[in-house]
Amino acid sequence: MALVSSSHQISAESVASAVAAAVDAFARATTLDELKKEKTTHLGERSELSLLNATLRDVSADRKAEAGKLMGEARGAVQPAYQKAEALLEAAEEAESLQAEALDMTAIGARRHQGSRHPLSVLMEDMADVFVSMGWEIAEGPELEHEWFNFDALNFDADHPARAMQDTFFVEPVERHIVLRTHTSPVQIRSLLERELPVYVVAPGRVYRTDELDATHTPVFHQIEGIAIDKNLTMAHLRGTLEHLARAMFGDEAKIRLRPNYFPFTEPSAELDIWHPTFSGGARWIEWGGCGMVNPNVLRAAGIDPEEYQGFAFGMGIERTLMFRNNVQDMRDMVEGDVRFSGQFGMVV
Ligand code: PHE
Repeated sequence: MALVSSSHQISAESVASAVAAAVDAFARATTLDELKKEKTTHLGERSELSLLNATLRDVSADRKAEAGKLMGEARGAVQPAYQKAEALLEAAEEAESLQAEALDMTAIGARRHQGSRHPLSVLMEDMADVFVSMGWEIAEGPELEHEWFNFDALNFDADHPARAMQDTFFVEPVERHIVLRTHTSPVQIRSLLERELPVYVVAPGRVYRTDELDATHTPVFHQIEGIAIDKNLTMAHLRGTLEHLARAMFGDEAKIRLRPNYFPFTEPSAELDIWHPTFSGGARWIEWGGCGMVNPNVLRAAGIDPEEYQGFAFGMGIERTLMFRNNVQDMRDMVEGDVRFSGQFGMVV
């Protein structure tokens, strides 16, 4: 009979204390890793319970049943304690990792800033589109323009005081007679020279005048020009066309008014005013552009017989239009190119 050390002898006390130690250790484990280590300590080959169990075969026959029962009960107590602890820790770790991986679908994302088109470009295109949808064409001309197109062909005499109406940037050497175009009207001449009659074109573009930049002036600005040359065009066609543009851009309540004026390239000439009930500052007339019947001298400069063909022309500033249409107070906002300004208009002006 093998000697059994007194410390590893199956008794109610020794078994209960090993069970209590195991149950307590399992309950105290705070992670699955810890629990695994405690399992080795309390249920492994060298654990107190295993050592006690190993003594079973040496227990005398009369105590065998009792010892076996004690060990069976021990297993019955320790195993569920382990499983309970394992289930709890698994659930806790699962919850923790779900928490860690959770996505807040309502959180505001780090949105990348989108640029936006400049409101002047959008507005200029919208105005041109009104004409394109009536079958007109879009024409372009150079911003560095020959004086002949900018002035002479438009019936400005060399010493005509009208040349002083527009403060011109002359480009050196002056003998080349190149200017930064002061208006889009030279495109009238270019269109008449390049195209077959009848001509219905709009020419949006950039123009230059020697103005200081302030709230209402900028040396670089934009205009849209229109010219229609056909047989039997009258001032009524001009008026109807401008009224259509006004309503397309401002709504059906918009009204226009023509006031006599002077331009060398139109005769008669008029100032175009627009009225709308919702203009900021109340329903009122606002100066919008210039217009008139194309001067016969202009037609002649383009090789057209004024007895056979007539027409009208008009031109208006895009910056001005944006100011009173979208209530922009300061022209400098349009020049600075700050995306916070442009962004306010989105893709629609
Ligand atoms: N070109 C003129 C201006 O800049 C406007 C205009 C265009 C007037 C066409 C009459 C006809 O002031």
